[in-house]
Order: sequence, then C-alpha cells, then structure tokens
Amino acid sequence: MEGRILPGVVSPMRTVPSHIARPPYADSGDVPRWNEPRVKSPEIIERMRHACTMAADILRLAGEFVKPGITTDDIDVFVHDLTVERGAYPSPLNYHRYPKSVCTSLNEVICHGIPDSTVLHDGDIINLDVTCYVGGVHGDTNATFFVGDVDAESRRLVKVTEECMWRGIEAVRPDRPLSDIGRAIEDHATKNRLGVVRAFIGHGIGEQFHTDIQVLHYYDPRNDMIMKPGMVVTIEPMITIGTWQHKMWDDDWTAVTADGKRTAQFEHTVLVTDTGVDVLTAGEGSVSPRRPS
Ligand code: MF3
Ligand code: CO
Ligand code: CO
Repeated sequence: MEGRILPGVVSPMRTVPSHIARPPYADSGDVPRWNEPRVKSPEIIERMRHACTMAADILRLAGEFVKPGITTDDIDVFVHDLTVERGAYPSPLNYHRYPKSVCTSLNEVICHGIPDSTVLHDGDIINLDVTCYVGGVHGDTNATFFVGDVDAESRRLVKVTEECMWRGIEAVRPDRPLSDIGRAIEDHATKNRLGVVRAFIGHGIGEQFHTDIQVLHYYDPRNDMIMKPGMVVTIEPMITIGTWQHKMWDDDWTAVTADGKRTAQFEHTVLVTDTGVDVLTAGEGSVSPRRPS
C-alpha cells in the first residue's frame, strides 16, 4: 500500500468573476506581508466566523462529492464554483502562484496536492483543504475523506488523526504557551504508534492567509508564544503510518511521505477565548463538529 501517486495534467487556471473581492495576491501571485494584530477585534472575529462557516460548509459538500471515478480537477471545479457562487474568493488560487482553488492530497500526499487529471479509486483516502476569503478575512479548514471502501489500517490512521486535531484544540487555553497544543497532539500520535509531520505547521490567520504565529504539531519548548483571548490560529496535524519525513515533488508544492506510506490531516480554525477555545470552522454544517467519542 505505498507510493503510487504520480503527477497528472493540470488544467488552465480558473478565473473569479470581477464582483468578488480579491485578496492582494490574486493578480500577481506575490504575497505581501504586514504585521496584523495578533489579537483580533470583535468586529474582525465576526467577519472571520462568517468566512470560517462558509469554508466548513463547502468542505462538507466537497466531501460528499468524493467518489471513485472522478478526478481531483473535478473536485477543484466543484469547490471553485461553489465558493464563487457564495460570494467568496477561493484563497489558494494564485497564493504564492498555487494554481488551483483547493488542495487535494491523496494517500501518501501530506499536503498541498494540486488538483489535476488524477482519478480517485476505491480504497483511496483524500484530504481536501478549503479556504475562503470573504469580508476581507480568511477561514481555513480541511478533512480527510474515504473513497469507497478503505482498508482498516487507513481507517485507523484517519480516526486517530481527527482525534489528534481535537486533542490539540482542547489544549487551547488563554495564558498558556502554544507548545501545549503540539504536546497534546504528539502524545496521542505516539501512543497510537503514528508519526507527526514537522515540516508543515498551523498558523495565525486573519486578513492574511498565514500570519507570523506558528503552531507546531509536536512538542518543542521553543514554541513559547502565550495564547491570548482574541488570537485566531489553525490546528492542522498531518499524521503518518510510517516516517514523518517528507519529499517535495518538482512542482514545489506536493509534499509526499519519504517512505510512500499513507498520511492524513484534519484542520480547524480556532479562536482563543477568555475561558478556552471557540472552533470557528466547527458547528452544525461541519465535517468534524466536535471531538469524536
Ligand atoms: N490551506 C493550507 C493551510 O492549511 C494552505 C494552502 S496554501 C496553497 O495552511 F497555496 F496551497 F493553497
Ligand atoms: Co491552514
Ligand atoms: Co488549510
């Protein structure tokens, strides 16, 4: 069960109608960075709640669209059209020149898989990562879906990965260091004899897709920024059956496990509150609305 995903043919970039507000990188592909406040105003938080709810809704619908025989490009068309229909810009499109509107990461692809002519087969697992830009802010969420009947080992991987995300979310508490999140995730993965990818991390989010806040998914005492009410970050662990080391394809986006074994990921955007955490991409329409029991 390892290492058979190959690059397919990538179709031309899709366009977004001119009435949709565009992020600053949409035309050039260059991403300007500025110091946006780490603690968000109540007004920005309400806008983020809207972007996050939309991303969660589109992710669920995209997951329902997954079936054997479709291509990852079909998923891109589905997500792109739905996002635009709802009045948002699909954040991945032209972000650092990323050519598509969603990330589709199959089997041993860790993250940032580019939708192309690759066909989904019975037994595959696929992560879809949806981000919406609307009201001047981003909302970011992902989940791993089954394509038809999936083997028991892969099902266990996906279940434990979702649990790891929730362990990380439950570690969010004001006045505690971000490293609490990574510790909770790593502990749960290790207990289940699974690996934690280190090269890709969670991030602050807001008016920018990625801000300067870094959220590690493994324990490192240097990840010592203190969580404050009003901070918004993503928690998005990538968990592996074998090694946590990755290789990069020549497209400079697609990250695959170095041993070709399968990997899974889940992501929520979360707000630090006075008492704990508010999961902005969870709720009724969400793929992972609450901690699995
Ligand atoms: N949504 C991804 C994340 O969780 C980022 C994708 S960047 C892209 O951070 F350019 F590939 F879209
Ligand atoms: Co993210
Ligand atoms: Co994401």
